[in-house]
Amino acid sequence: MGFAVAIDGPAASGKGTLARRIADTYGFHHLDTGLTYRAVANALLDAGAPLDDEEQAAAVAASLDFADLDRSVLSAHKIGEAASMVAVMPAVRAALVDAQRRFAAREPGAVLDGRDIGTVVCPDAPVKLFVTASPDIRAHRRFAEIEAAGNATSYDVVLDDLKKRDARDMRRADSPLRPSEDAHLLDTSEMDIEAAFLAAKRLIDAAYGAGNKT
Ligand code: DC
Repeated sequence: MGFAVAIDGPAASGKGTLARRIADTYGFHHLDTGLTYRAVANALLDAGAPLDDEEQAAAVAASLDFADLDRSVLSAHKIGEAASMVAVMPAVRAALVDAQRRFAAREPGAVLDGRDIGTVVCPDAPVKLFVTASPDIRAHRRFAEIEAAGNATSYDVVLDDLKKRDARDMRRADSPLRPSEDAHLLDTSEMDIEAAFLAAKRLIDAAYGAGNKT
């Protein structure tokens, strides 16, 4: 059983950047679990199937190969919205969580980021982080990313979408987005990625042991 780092937080909180940085530093595997929900949603969209078809979505989830997750395709805004809808279905979550747990056990360690890693996927992870930032800051970051990619949108639309996504992810009955009781909160509203990384590194070094320190 490898060393697991659980990172949760809302969209555009900076958790993905932080997760990749930690994985690179410690030589751990990294799984962006949002991509797994996005892949299921994308398969339904491609098949022209309704996004609330639980049986079909669960079948896709059960046969998903995590090695095939293609961020460049799955990062589309429309797929993120669809993923948030697919993610409310318990049969989909059960199938994905099963595979995510197997990933989390990989040696020498694994960093998983998502919405329910500390609460459901890896409740025994030795390090749990909950990354937040104000909706306004997150919307500015997301807006800048969309503009940099050459796509047109308005800040108000981005903010409105983020708030709707937060509400759906936090209010669903199965595995809602919330910090586990033993998670360390990192508010990146006023903190850059370097400061967030150093805070995370201190926690990981303390738990991982001096022998593995990089
Ligand atoms: O992090 P993201 O934007 O790629 O996630 C897309 C959606 O997938 C998110 O709105 C909710 C869902 N999700 C989830 O329910 N549980 C996770 N562990 C990760 C993502």
